[in-house]
Amino acid sequence: MKAEEIKKLDKEYVLNTYGRYDMMCDHGKNATMYDKDGKEYIDFTAGIGVDSLGFSDEGWIKAVEEQLHKFQHCSNLFYSEPGALLAKKLVEKTGMSKVFFANSGGEGNETAFKIARKYGNTMADHQKNSIISLYDSFHGRTIATVTATGQDRFHKYFDPFAPGFYYAKANDLGSMEEAVAEHDPCAVIMEIVQGEGGVIGLDKDFVQGVQKICDDKDIILIIDEVQAGAGRTGSFFAYQQYGIHPDLVSFAKGIGAGLPIGGVICNEKLSGVLKPGEQGSTFGMNPVVCAGACYAVDRMNDEFLAEVRKKSEYLRNELGAIDEVEEITGLGLMMGVKLKTKKADDVVPELLKNGLMALTAVEKIRLLPPLTISVEEMEKGVAIFKKVLG
Ligand SMILES: Cc1ncc(COP(=O)(O)O)c(C=O)c1O
Repeated sequence: MKAEEIKKLDKEYVLNTYGRYDMMCDHGKNATMYDKDGKEYIDFTAGIGVDSLGFSDEGWIKAVEEQLHKFQHCSNLFYSEPGALLAKKLVEKTGMSKVFFANSGGEGNETAFKIARKYGNTMADHQKNSIISLYDSFHGRTIATVTATGQDRFHKYFDPFAPGFYYAKANDLGSMEEAVAEHDPCAVIMEIVQGEGGVIGLDKDFVQGVQKICDDKDIILIIDEVQAGAGRTGSFFAYQQYGIHPDLVSFAKGIGAGLPIGGVICNEKLSGVLKPGEQGSTFGMNPVVCAGACYAVDRMNDEFLAEVRKKSEYLRNELGAIDEVEEITGLGLMMGVKLKTKKADDVVPELLKNGLMALTAVEKIRLLPPLTISVEEMEKGVAIFKKVLG
């Protein structure tokens, strides 16, 4: 089909919930996407952090294909190999205890809330069930996760919200102490680098301070690694650079490397909280998705993570040297480019016209390139940045 016909179909039949850029993806390889006319685009988005191994990675395709030829789905009422293997890998990467699989980050966080609330309602030192998140956070689009999301722009029109959610200020331990004293929470949830909120990294002191409050008061610490996880920040999970030991870690996006996955990893203390029938997900632990994810997680070894850190340094140096760039925030290959005079909302479409896919986050340009991006692809992307901002 021609690009114009596809756009017409989309406009006529797909619910208009996304502000789409004027570009028709057709096929891609690593960090390069081609449109219907064969025009090349360097990808600094990885499908919002999903395509951790870039487009059409051969090893990932092989792993997915092999499973497809065995069977595609059979339900969680029976055992299957890929999900069990993936759970073992995630437990080994974190030193935690058990995994629940779903299909999205939102569902991973919902599951974390259910585990924390059941623990708080039935097993904590006293009954408690409120949850504290941070202002400027993002935790998903379901009613509970959008309530936990601490940005009012996501709240408009969708009330009434789920009860029992309260907010504290990021990087302000006093604000967290106050919220804890007032609301007696069963859990605190936070992202180590707030992605949608503007690629804002939390201070180590704050993160460790929250850990201490949680330890002292038997509060479940949930770290949302949906966007920052899966090697993106240069460690397997971002929290691993912060010297903390969360009780629950939600994951999604890059773990699947392109197929829908999400879930939560829990520590030993919480591993027996949920009983059969108390949580489920029809597609969760899907064998095709998990086979691809096993391959992706295996690729994310120490050498791979060292490469991510090197690529991050290169991009931060190159982009940081552009006059119009005020600062680059975030960690590893999760970057927020703050501009001096131009607006990110104006620059991103210009970058696209010139052959570079990028994102925005509040007032910044947000970059989440595939972790496998090559030097040549990075150079091409930097050259486009220089041309547009120069
Ligand atoms: C930190 C964080 N948590 C949760 C979500 C929600 O994930 P999903 O869209 O897979 O439900 C996102 C999505 O961008 C995210 O960045």
